Amino acid sequence: MNENDNEDLRVALVSGGSRGIGAAVTIGLTQRGCRVGCTYRTGRDEAEKLTANAPDQVLPIHFDLHDDTTATSAVEHVVSHWGRLDSLILNAGQWSGGRLNATKPDAWWSVIETNLRGTVALARAALPHLANGTSPSIVLVSSVVGVIGHPGDTAYASAKSAMVGFGRSLAKEVARDGIRVNILAPGFVATDMTDAVPASARRRIEQDTVLGRFGTVDEIAKAAVFLSEDATFCTGSVLTVDGGWAL
Ligand SMILES: NC(=O)c1ccc[n+]([C@@H]2O[C@H](COP(=O)([O-])OP(=O)(O)OC[C@H]3O[C@@H](n4cnc5c(N)ncnc54)[C@H](OP(=O)(O)O)[C@@H]3O)[C@@H](O)[C@H]2O)c1
Repeated sequence: MNENDNEDLRVALVSGGSRGIGAAVTIGLTQRGCRVGCTYRTGRDEAEKLTANAPDQVLPIHFDLHDDTTATSAVEHVVSHWGRLDSLILNAGQWSGGRLNATKPDAWWSVIETNLRGTVALARAALPHLANGTSPSIVLVSSVVGVIGHPGDTAYASAKSAMVGFGRSLAKEVARDGIRVNILAPGFVATDMTDAVPASARRRIEQDTVLGRFGTVDEIAKAAVFLSEDATFCTGSVLTVDGGWAL
């Protein structure tokens, strides 16, 4: 491969790429030949392991959902390193549960802020660069609880639901720039985020899931890569990947 071939390779930015679903998306995109800016907040070592497995294809970048300046610097870092940006996967997020009447207002709003603020900031910073990209696209990693709701999740589900409204509206705003925006709504997936689910709740989720189990990060990553790379006639779509939990 010569230097000019390299210039043709697509460039993606995956937020929360250091572990869980984001790490699987990072690996899936590199297997498709993409170069990937992979953001971490605390997991620098994990992000660097991904670089070690795909040298020259994974660039670890610090990003904090609470800090808009890190959104701008993450996008600038990837563009200055590889000269372009074609795909943005907005995956970083945090779960925090609790029934409405058992959650203090500040804590409730903090879940919204955490899941939305940096996500919107990254999209805002990336748009001018995506507009110059090839088959540019944004994938928002929402959740099936943001589509159908879930008791004990009013804050988290509100944030994930807002990602659907945000993504579908943005899809209409940026279609003129050739940018597709799609939403991925995973069901329950085995990651650090769901490790905290108590055994009894886990059994109930498995019983309520038509396929009878939690999903794997690779199953979600395949859908994210599809929306990002292959779904050239999809924009504003919400793809549910939940083993039938929402049926
Ligand atoms: N797991 C599920 O069942 C499930 C279901 C539906 C939707 N989702 C959504 O899928 C996405 C990924 O979930 P996951 O299960 O893979 O989570 P995870 O294993 O907990 O990983 C979360 C990722 O997000 C990053 N992150 C967390 N807080 C951050 C912050 N404040 N600023 C910047 N980055 C932050 C983490 O970075 P560091 O480790 O470097 O700190 C990590 O890379 C989330 O948006 C989640 O809401 C998950």
